[in-house]
Amino acid sequence: MKEELKEYGYIINNILEEYLAAKEENNRLVYEAMQYSVFAGGKRLRPVLLLATYKLFKKDITNALPFAAAIEMIHTYSLIHDDLPAMDNDDYRRGKLTNHKVFGEGMAVLAGDGLLNTAYELLLGEIVKATNPLVVAKAAKVIGNAAGVKGMIGGQVADIVSEDQEISAKDLDYIHAHKTGALIEASMVSGAILAGAESQDIKKIKQIGKNLGLAFQIKDDVLDVIGDQKEMGKQIGSDEANEKSTYPKLYGLDTCQKRIQELTEDSNKLLDEFLPQSEFLKKLNNYLMDREN
Ligand code: IPE
Ligand code: IPE
Ligand code: MG
Ligand code: MG
Ligand code: MG
Repeated sequence: MKEELKEYGYIINNILEEYLAAKEENNRLVYEAMQYSVFAGGKRLRPVLLLATYKLFKKDITNALPFAAAIEMIHTYSLIHDDLPAMDNDDYRRGKLTNHKVFGEGMAVLAGDGLLNTAYELLLGEIVKATNPLVVAKAAKVIGNAAGVKGMIGGQVADIVSEDQEISAKDLDYIHAHKTGALIEASMVSGAILAGAESQDIKKIKQIGKNLGLAFQIKDDVLDVIGDQKEMGKQIGSDEANEKSTYPKLYGLDTCQKRIQELTEDSNKLLDEFLPQSEFLKKLNNYLMDREN
């Protein structure tokens, strides 16, 4: 699994480099800021999920590569904005100073905007040149919906307005499913659609993505309490400092780990239906449950 993960990492970084190369003097600075955060590191989870899900249905992943790059750009934009003083006010990300600490707040806002727009330029470009534009457009729409107001942005809004508040379990699930779950789910669903999966299979993939997304954010909350800063590349205790509503705060650490395990087992059971191709995703799922970064 680790070898395959590394292999995906190389492929994803290559395609990102290609799409994020600065070509003109006038916009060099914003490209530098965009590249800074994209190539600071990062697990590349969303593009890996997209490609690995695509591969459940189709061997040759060439057509999915622009989608993989686009989803990592959208994710990285969300991190740059999430770290801004007006949001979580964090100083470290992916083991380096946050974007605004290096380039200033104005440029960090624009670098985020730049990544988001570049992602959609890429996706629209894929639709324009596709032999099956409707399928490609459907896959792109899934990403657009997940990144948008009904998805990630909606989750980030709820996350911010819930600071210093006591919120219900249902509202906390809304935050986690949207700010983080939506894009993770969309990575898998768009990969499946793009590969031409049947609607019953897309439904199963959607459920797997939902479980994985929620488990991933619960683990992120847990690591913000008990993680190792060096390992994670970001400072811990950020949630407490911002009085965020989190899973450990509402349920305690033990319940969190149990919930992560349950969600992982549920999605692994669904992944069994796609064996033997789903072996990698099952291993990745288990790895994420015990991750330290
Ligand atoms: C961090 O995401 C923000 C969340 C949505 C929890 P990742 O943990 O995937 O961050 P990178 O991409 O590896 O830096
Ligand atoms: C971030 O959640 C979710 C998005 C960036 C959309 P967090 O605020 O918990 O992520 P970290 O802990 O800063 O990576
Ligand atoms: Mg946040
Ligand atoms: Mg944050
Ligand atoms: Mg967090």
